[in-house]
Amino acid sequence: MIVLFNFAFWKMHPPNCVLMSVLLMIADGLIVHGPSGPLVAPLGSSVVLLCYVNELLVMEDLEVEWTRTDSETLVHLYQDGESRPESQQQEYRDRAHFFTDQIQHGNFSLRLDNLRAEDEGRYTCRVHSQQDSGETVVQIKYVERLLVSGSDEFMSVGEDVTLSCSVDSHITPEHIEEVSWRKTDGDILVLLFQNNKTLPDSSDEQYRDRAELFTAEIPKGNFSLRLKSVRIEDKGVYMCLVFAGGLSANATVVLERLGFSVSHIMVLILCISASGSALLLCCLFYCRSPYKGINIIICCTSFGT
Ligand SMILES: *[C@@H]1O[C@H](CO)[C@@H](O)[C@H](O)[C@H]1NC(C)=O
Ligand SMILES: *[C@@H]1O[C@H](CO)[C@@H](O)[C@H](O)[C@H]1NC(C)=O
Ligand SMILES: *[C@@H]1O[C@H](CO)[C@@H](O)[C@H](O)[C@H]1NC(C)=O
Repeated sequence: MIVLFNFAFWKMHPPNCVLMSVLLMIADGLIVHGPSGPLVAPLGSSVVLLCYVNELLVMEDLEVEWTRTDSETLVHLYQDGESRPESQQQEYRDRAHFFTDQIQHGNFSLRLDNLRAEDEGRYTCRVHSQQDSGETVVQIKYVERLLVSGSDEFMSVGEDVTLSCSVDSHITPEHIEEVSWRKTDGDILVLLFQNNKTLPDSSDEQYRDRAELFTAEIPKGNFSLRLKSVRIEDKGVYMCLVFAGGLSANATVVLERLGFSVSHIMVLILCISASGSALLLCCLFYCRSPYKGINIIICCTSFGT
């Protein structure tokens, strides 16, 4: 845009009237375009963050910088005629693809591959040319996902047990339509949660008044189930099934009985027979292993002759 400014400088002495016309080039800034609205894409997919100009730019000294608007993290930098991966944040090194062949057309779009939940946010595309610079902001609103996870548990008859189920989604927990806990053998409904409410009356008789969710944990996406006064027949495979935003996902957890296995008993017999007349000290430890919940370690120590 060209603006003509007329500055009239009136000096206090009437004969010395100076009129100055100053022609100023006001840098209006480059108009950089982005997508028409926020983007929504599935987890693991590729998404193109649009950024382009509708005018011809001098390629020389052209610089394009893609950053996260929130953290100022550098996603991609094009400088001195090439991409500069060394200056880019590690997490984008292999995932951000710049279309170098498109630059001459004024297209500075960036493709982000293998989309992650953390990619949600705003991105700024800054274009600096010799005379001008401008920017646009692109928002990744949601990375669509519904991931349900759980872990196996051991039970002791008569005690309470917690079967875990956590939901990670672009849909906030209060917008989850349904979560149901089922025992897979026989497809028995243990507990139903629908439209923000637990419906205890819909539970199968054998779980009536024994199953509940942790109300305070639900807003965190934690739909773990508390099963009270566990019975032998509760042993088995359970499924936590979630419906949200047209998607569904589930996790299965195994509820196993705590007990001695044949191999443990064999070790114990071996220990006793090997120790002969010696004083034998056998101790049982219950300890949690990362794999199977509870393992029993049998430790034998012999003293004397
Ligand atoms: C810019 O290039 C990308 C990748 O090839 C393409 O998807 C997009 O449509 C192009 N945009 C314009 C405005 O040419
Ligand atoms: C749950 O409650 C929230 C607000 O408390 C509401 O916005 C949402 O629509 C409700 N979800 C369902 C599935 O009814
Ligand atoms: C869910 O809540 C239960 C009960 O408070 C807790 O034991 C469990 O660790 C929680 N799970 C997660 C993943 O936070």
